[in-house]
Amino acid sequence: MKKILITGSSGLIGSELCEKFAQANWEVHGVDCYLRSNLLLSKEAETKGQIQSLQKKYQNIIQYNNNINELEVMQEIIKDMDAIIHCAAQVSHPRSLEIPLKDAQINVMGTLNLLELTRKYNSEIPFAFISSNKVYGDMPNRFRYKIVDDGYHKRYENCEYDSFDEKIAIDQCHHTPFGVSKAAADMYTQEYAKSYGMKTATFRGGCLIGKNQKAAESHGFLGFFTKQILLKKKLRIFGEGYRVRDNIHSSDVAEIIYLWINSPRPELDGKYGKTYNIGGGRKNSVSIFETMAAIKAKTGISPMYEDAQERQADHLWWITNMSKFKNDYPEWEGITKDLDYIFNELIKNYQDIYGLQFELEDLDYFKNLTKETEVILKSYHKLSVVNNL
Ligand SMILES: NC(=O)c1ccc[n+]([C@@H]2O[C@H](COP(=O)([O-])OP(=O)(O)OC[C@H]3O[C@@H](n4cnc5c(N)ncnc54)[C@H](O)[C@@H]3O)[C@@H](O)[C@H]2O)c1
Repeated sequence: MKKILITGSSGLIGSELCEKFAQANWEVHGVDCYLRSNLLLSKEAETKGQIQSLQKKYQNIIQYNNNINELEVMQEIIKDMDAIIHCAAQVSHPRSLEIPLKDAQINVMGTLNLLELTRKYNSEIPFAFISSNKVYGDMPNRFRYKIVDDGYHKRYENCEYDSFDEKIAIDQCHHTPFGVSKAAADMYTQEYAKSYGMKTATFRGGCLIGKNQKAAESHGFLGFFTKQILLKKKLRIFGEGYRVRDNIHSSDVAEIIYLWINSPRPELDGKYGKTYNIGGGRKNSVSIFETMAAIKAKTGISPMYEDAQERQADHLWWITNMSKFKNDYPEWEGITKDLDYIFNELIKNYQDIYGLQFELEDLDYFKNLTKETEVILKSYHKLSVVNNL
């Protein structure tokens, strides 16, 4: 039986990966010290229960309640593995402004320690790092955008690009300490392939979502918005609600990483260290305003919100271009969970947790939104000059 180390094993992506590899008959070794709620200052962000319930389901998951910076423990585990997926992180960009040293300790030193232990004790195995599109800092904000507001759509639209690939520059812009710590870890991961010949890759996530996310105001907007609206609590909108994010379900993320771990593919020069953007793409993109409208249409509950100051280095608009991964892995079946699935899953989950009584309107709210957006987009790309925000 092959063995895999998954750090951050009790978090959204870590736990999804633990289940995926356990089902595929790997011996899964999870490491998590349950820092999420402490880092995000939110009791509801506690992740411990996740790995505990998986362990009840699968005999082949072994869990270590350790910090990834505990070198002796990590050395012993890593020596014995056939693959590593590194998901443990301080995950919030607003929180990183308040705890920059802790952020760097976990994201930079934690990743570097794991890479170095792997280089010393098990350098032949694949090592996947879950990075972030925040490595691009606020560079995406430097393109031309226009507000679309036609009663159905209420969003920014990029007048130059349909989606962003990996070619956007990552420096000479504003990141927040989180963007810097993820970029450093991302580059170390690439470098360990270039300098030491290790089999690494980095996966730069957009918004990763699923019912197992322990959403908080400082991380996990879709889950947090859904929860607050259903509980009839007031939301804060940081900057305007026209901001667009694409969303990818954690099970789709797990499939992408699973494909890579089973068949890492090098660059043309034979070296590894590839970077991939991963996200839900245009069809899974939604603005803050559209999110609130969708939840209202599905539940009948009107969101309450107030405006708050824009967050530093926050993307105005991000839609992921996954062509690079698609080209490298033509066997990949693509995104399998659409926005409607994602919203319904989140709503049903919070309904169960909080025992909420209402009928979920099971309409495909996003079908028209996507179709209409494509029509509008076509006319936008023809415009030569538009408002520069
Ligand atoms: N969720 C998203 O929208 C998103 C977007 C882009 C990138 N990512 C990246 O994906 C990865 C996984 O994110 P997630 O959403 O599953 O986050 P998560 O917070 O749900 O999971 C991370 C887990 O790591 C654990 N952890 C944190 N520091 C640790 C440490 N020092 N030692 C051991 N365990 C530690 C936490 O307790 C938590 O259970 C992270 O690297 C994150 O930066 C996430």
